[in-house]
Amino acid sequence: MSDKIFIFDTTLRDGEQVPGCQLNTIEKIEVARTLEALGVDVIEAGFPVSSPGDFNSVVEISKAVSNPIICALTRAVEKDIDVAAEALKFAKRGRIHTGIGTSPYHIKSKLNSNPDEILDRAVRAVKYAKRYVEDVEFYAEDAGRSDNEYLARVVEAVIKAGATVINIPDTTGYCLPGEYGAKIKYLMENVSNVHKAILSTHCHNDLGMATANSLSGVLNGARQVEVTVNGIGERAGNTALEEVVMAIKTHHGLPFHTNINSQGIFDASRLVSSLMNMPVQANKAIVGRNAFAHSSGIHQDGVLKNRENYEIIDPVDVGIKESAIVLTARSGRAALNHHLSQMGYTLTKEQLDDTYNRFLVVADQKKNLSEKDLSELMGDANDLQKS
Ligand code: KIV
Ligand code: ZN
Repeated sequence: MSDKIFIFDTTLRDGEQVPGCQLNTIEKIEVARTLEALGVDVIEAGFPVSSPGDFNSVVEISKAVSNPIICALTRAVEKDIDVAAEALKFAKRGRIHTGIGTSPYHIKSKLNSNPDEILDRAVRAVKYAKRYVEDVEFYAEDAGRSDNEYLARVVEAVIKAGATVINIPDTTGYCLPGEYGAKIKYLMENVSNVHKAILSTHCHNDLGMATANSLSGVLNGARQVEVTVNGIGERAGNTALEEVVMAIKTHHGLPFHTNINSQGIFDASRLVSSLMNMPVQANKAIVGRNAFAHSSGIHQDGVLKNRENYEIIDPVDVGIKESAIVLTARSGRAALNHHLSQMGYTLTKEQLDDTYNRFLVVADQKKNLSEKDLSELMGDANDLQKS
């Protein structure tokens, strides 16, 4: 038995909040269509009350996309909920995502309130949203730093009020995986009506734990994961879609699956990166330039013998044609021979030894060698013929 993990993508809301990442409506529709093709279950399209542009984008995405649920964010404020409902009117399936802070920081220093009043506002917001849509997700902002007993009371009350999904955000990216997993487990065990809703993870990456925390949440009972493409998002970002999806897919023993067509991951990553003008770091898991590049001699030799010696994912599975064997001064004979044979050269052992020595002299002066560099190198050796 394998449980479905619902993928809730917030690239267009939490991701788009990042300074410099703003998209116009046409660009957002392009991203939304790409997410639909990828197979995400929910697209968080925006925060309609925040600006007329965001409102309009939620309207247009609702018209442009049919399969995923379209979700709109609100605070626990009636006006926000009214505007979100209006923005969702063309959605085939619309969800309102409302919520409020539940940590001592948020209750006292952000909202100048007290725990009972916050619980009451949470319940009222969910009931108000239910007037418009059946599907209401509630977020307990800063749940990562909230007291578990109080959080459980809030979760129980909002489920009773009709919430269908409960989002447990680690808003500040503070939790460690064991701690976040234990929080989800606590809710699964201590909220009497928890089985009437789905628990969702929403992890930020301030300590580089977002993916680990999300998976820990899943292992302890969460069945929706909130993610962004390339992990973009406030500060250090959100959980990366590609990391969660490929971790689940790669670990065949886990009793989980997602609906994501993983072969679309690389193109989605490039689209988001170029539209948002956010370069992907070279060593980013799954989608970075070096994620499937091998440069040291020992690894290159191993990969050329059997890709699985050094790769846990087939690059084709994420939409990358093949792994790269990069030629640097750390490369070995096997990698050089591989490139030369792709260029049509067949070398004897002695010829390869000689070429390799000349290659190292050039490679020591360059970061990496291109095919043109190799042609020049081979041009010096008149007796080596292409086959
Ligand atoms: O990080 C967070 O808490 C959020 C909520 C608004 C869902 O993005
Ligand atoms: Zn967030």
